[in-house]
Amino acid sequence: MKRALITGITGQDGSYLAELLLSKDYVVHGLIRRSSTFNTSRIEHLYTDPHDPDRRLFLHYGDLTDSARLVSLLMEIVPDEIYNLGAQSHVRVSFDEPEHTGAVTGLGSVRLLEAVRQSKIECRYYQASSSEMFGSTPPPQDESAPFHPRSPYAAAKLYAHSMTQMYREAYGLHAVSGILFNHESPRRGETFVTRKITRAVARIKMGLEKRVYLGNLDAVRDWGYAPEFVEGIWRMLQMDDPRDLVLATGVGTTVKEFAHAAFAHAGLDWQEHVEFDDRYLRAAEVNALIGNASAARSAFGWDPTITANRLAGIMVEADLEALQSTGKPWIDRPITAGWS
Ligand code: NAP
Ligand code: GDD
Repeated sequence: MKRALITGITGQDGSYLAELLLSKDYVVHGLIRRSSTFNTSRIEHLYTDPHDPDRRLFLHYGDLTDSARLVSLLMEIVPDEIYNLGAQSHVRVSFDEPEHTGAVTGLGSVRLLEAVRQSKIECRYYQASSSEMFGSTPPPQDESAPFHPRSPYAAAKLYAHSMTQMYREAYGLHAVSGILFNHESPRRGETFVTRKITRAVARIKMGLEKRVYLGNLDAVRDWGYAPEFVEGIWRMLQMDDPRDLVLATGVGTTVKEFAHAAFAHAGLDWQEHVEFDDRYLRAAEVNALIGNASAARSAFGWDPTITANRLAGIMVEADLEALQSTGKPWIDRPITAGWS
């Protein structure tokens, strides 16, 4: 059985990746942060009792800012594959916390790469790079497009991306970076724009709220479906020649169009419920990200099928169902609370 270590296992992608690897008979180890509240809701369905002798999911406390812990964990687990998905991943928040974002999203990767080098463990390494690194470079963006980061998050990701490439070239590490365009799902964090919109649609449909406040409605993103992207992550790391590849759907959609599709799915008119609030603008915006993933298609036949319109439907349905099934919508946080 292969052993994998996932940082960021409690996040959207980490939870889908854990599911995928368990379905492929891996033993999965995940790094989780100590938190004063439970932060494992996305992987609770995968949890197995520690007394179960057949258990294949193991969670370890740790943090990407703690080098010594990363080295000791690697020595203990001896993974065949490492997926570094852990990050402060919110672009807007990175303007408020540039140093923290650099420490976790940028230097965190270097701590992990260095732990691999120091522990001398033979393993493959995946770095979660981002289309945000292209920043102001106009679409379509592929592996040859120049990077021009427009946020502390993007700059931190670019540093991690360059260091991953450097460890591959200097130390012969089997390391790849997936340059992933936006991908969403019902498990998407509640403050990213797609999920913020689909939660709002559900709450408005149920009569709990009347409006949602958004920032830039004209930004264009290439929104795909997280489970399909996680499959691409796994396949990328199975390639025998490690190289960095773009994963994207190739379809650009504005925030406005996504809102239109999501509200329409519930029989609502977005224009009656969406209002502008400049608190959601960024000091520098990335206007348009639309990826060209033809290199990944040729390398391992990756061909995503779900784009923004269908995604909006999937996410609205899930948010409606979640709200209806709790029977206690009042315990769900309101969307107008002002979070980024
Ligand atoms: P996410 O839902 O925000 O998950 C981030 C994960 O990182 C969470 O498990 C979080 O733990 C963990 N984390 C945060 N700070 C940490 C620290 N100091 N030490 C250890 N772990 C820490 O992100 P995602 O959407 O799944 O994305 C996964 C990765 O892909 C991220 O690196 C992201 O930047 C990158 N990426 C995402 C997209 C996208 O569209 N989703 C596109 C390109 C790249 P808690 O649960 O405790 O907060
Ligand atoms: N979050 C948010 N909230 N974004 C808004 C809002 C709002 O109220 N209103 C408009 N937007 C616009 C943002 O300005 C941005 O142009 C777009 O919606 C998408 O924002 P997010 O959903 O926050 O995602 P992101 O594109 O900034 O970053 C995501 O994708 C990157 C890959 O391109 C994150 O997942 C990053 O971690 C990831 O690397």
